[in-house]
Amino acid sequence: MARASILFVCLGNICRSPLAEAAMRAEADKAGLDIIVDSAGTGDWHVGSPPDQRAQRQALSHGIDISTYRGRQVSAEDFRRFTHIFALDTDNLRNLKRIRPSDGAADLALLMDMVPGREGTGVVDPYYGDEAGFADTWDDVTRAARAIAKRISSIPER
Ligand code: 4NP
Repeated sequence: MARASILFVCLGNICRSPLAEAAMRAEADKAGLDIIVDSAGTGDWHVGSPPDQRAQRQALSHGIDISTYRGRQVSAEDFRRFTHIFALDTDNLRNLKRIRPSDGAADLALLMDMVPGREGTGVVDPYYGDEAGFADTWDDVTRAARAIAKRISSIPER
């Protein structure tokens, strides 16, 4: 059985959380971790859509093809299916707390709380910005994914 199952949640599920998913898969591969990784959005505007072209280009520049990812909206069931849910910013964290069911056991946290010195901060939404914003997003989610991989490596396999 997988050691952990991790869901990354942003607003649209086409910019930040797909990049977090890609970075987490890459770091898990590097560390030889058997984990389940997925992403979703609190909003429903991009359900069924591939990631934003700029996010796709950013991932490709790191050798990762995310063109087959598809947007989906987070659901109450996700709190039962995943062991960990990470919100990409504080607005999404607040909304996730609102939809969390009473029997949802997933550990819910702000993603950048995993990175020393960045506690309490969000990954800036690059959607209305330029290409450079996506490079910043990649840096943030990669640092967080590395910290998560390190932490999970120390959890005994179940
Ligand atoms: P994301 O970026 O939450 O990082 O996927 C956004 C994508 C789309 C929208 C907002 C944020 N939107 O309003 O459509």
